[in-house]
Amino acid sequence: MNRKITIAIDGFSSTGKSTVAKQLAKELGYVYVDTGAMYRAVTLFAMRNSLISSQGVDEKGLIEKLPEVSLKFIFDEKRGFAAMYLNGEDVEDEIRQMEVSGNVSKVATISEVRQKLVSQQQLMGKERGIVMDGRDIATVVFPDAELKLFMTASPEERATRRFKELQSKGQEVSYEEVLKNVEDRDLMDTTREDSPLVMAEDSIEIDNSFLNPEEQYKIVLELAREMIEQE
Ligand code: DC
Repeated sequence: MNRKITIAIDGFSSTGKSTVAKQLAKELGYVYVDTGAMYRAVTLFAMRNSLISSQGVDEKGLIEKLPEVSLKFIFDEKRGFAAMYLNGEDVEDEIRQMEVSGNVSKVATISEVRQKLVSQQQLMGKERGIVMDGRDIATVVFPDAELKLFMTASPEERATRRFKELQSKGQEVSYEEVLKNVEDRDLMDTTREDSPLVMAEDSIEIDNSFLNPEEQYKIVLELAREMIEQE
């Protein structure tokens, strides 16, 4: 029987990490975990509790309220993947909105938030047979993952993809706004003190600026199969 491995996919925002991760998990019969959704749900919680204002995030207030945050992924037949639930409520659509995107990188700098989410992620992956995507999966969450991928693409290409996605969902945003959000998040994610986005030494970099989703998926699936077949 084939062994079960851990697949860590890190990279910048809107590089198509989650699309590849979902496809891969489906094909291999693995569990898929979108860790960005967890940081987004904590951000939504903070927004709903007035812990985020134009002054920034009330870190102390959020840390105090963290024990009240319960996160769960529940498989949704219609969507074909596990949706994010915050304290029992399906927030999958709400956490994708621009307002959450604009605040999430600030929330993700808070060490107490990271500790809580990282330990949940480690628990979810302890049996292996998991595909997890995020920013610190190969470096912090599963440094022993058998397959580590790091996905990149130019900021302009990523903003174009994200812009089209938001437009198709009927959200009114401009391309410039989306590009600024992508660039701001890149900067914050790569320069934060705790677990910044960096490529692990043993990660394989995939620049998909010039790859279509099918080409990219073929490469990734082959890498996963090779690794699974290795003793
Ligand atoms: O993957 P995403 O764009 O949905 O992630 C949202 C934000 O969450 C991103 O700007 C950085 C943060 N994040 C993180 O710090 N660590 C992770 N493992 C996943 C996401």
